[in-house]
Amino acid sequence: MSLDTDVMRAVLSGNAPLAEHFKEYYRVFHTEHESATETGLSEFVDERGFATYERIAATVDLEQAARVLEIGCGDGALLQRIIAIRPAVRVSGIDLSEVEIARAAERLPAENVEQLVVGCAEGLPFAEAKFDAVVSHLMLMLVPDASQVIGEARRVLKKGRSFVSVIARMGEPESPSMQLLREIPQWIRELHPAYAPVNPGDSRIWRDDTLRELFTSNGFEHVEFDDFIISRSISSKVLPELLEQRYYIGSLPPETRAHVNVRAREWAGDRNFVYQEAMRTLIAR
Ligand SMILES: C[S@@+](CC[C@H](N)C(=O)[O-])C[C@H]1O[C@@H](n2cnc3c(N)ncnc32)[C@H](O)[C@@H]1O
Repeated sequence: MSLDTDVMRAVLSGNAPLAEHFKEYYRVFHTEHESATETGLSEFVDERGFATYERIAATVDLEQAARVLEIGCGDGALLQRIIAIRPAVRVSGIDLSEVEIARAAERLPAENVEQLVVGCAEGLPFAEAKFDAVVSHLMLMLVPDASQVIGEARRVLKKGRSFVSVIARMGEPESPSMQLLREIPQWIRELHPAYAPVNPGDSRIWRDDTLRELFTSNGFEHVEFDDFIISRSISSKVLPELLEQRYYIGSLPPETRAHVNVRAREWAGDRNFVYQEAMRTLIAR
């Protein structure tokens, strides 16, 4: 159950989780939350009505991409969309969750799949210059050393080809969803007074200069950022379902989750509000 991870035990008791415990956390979370990322995000759209999956799939230069690798592919939601755009593509995916890789194998047409591997982004089990494109969708900000992962992406990419990655972004203007996310730790502390929110991943991801440096120091010559907002109109009825799909909130003990849901419904009241998330596409070659 939810508490059976070192990460949740640490955050609920106010301690900083150890970097080496996050992989176990992601494995447990994704086993318990089937299609969490897709369920949580596919109805959030940008200014043109595209969800992040469609947006990244449209960014990859698929005309020439015969072999595409997704790092942290989860259950194959993005690879499925890439195959829909280019039916002749050969896709590979790697994820640390065995359950997610099994779901991807079930979901994707066998004739398009080259390799689906349970493994870590920090050491890709693929030959140098094997891929025409490498993608990742909402995983790069999860790893403690992003440099290792970016270096591995460069190694397995053909020369001059692109690594396209969507990550979350901080520092947007005040919005109802930001207010909500600030409130939630207070509600959790009503039951777990020592609760300390977790801020995982590599801190260099969150600043433009250090993020750019992560790519250039790993052999990428051009790095572009494409920043955008995705949003969805939310009622208090669907809010609990949405919060359930978020890391940490979705792993709280059942009574804490129920308490957060009550508070969230009270907070939302009768109104619909616009839930926004700030996103960034990174295109590096
Ligand atoms: C937010 S989910 C996104 C899944 C998928 N890309 C999608 O958008 O539907 C992040 C994924 O990254 C995987 N992940 C996290 N750290 C990883 C690592 N170090 N190596 C491989 N996979 C990792 C998790 O298991 C999870 O499936």
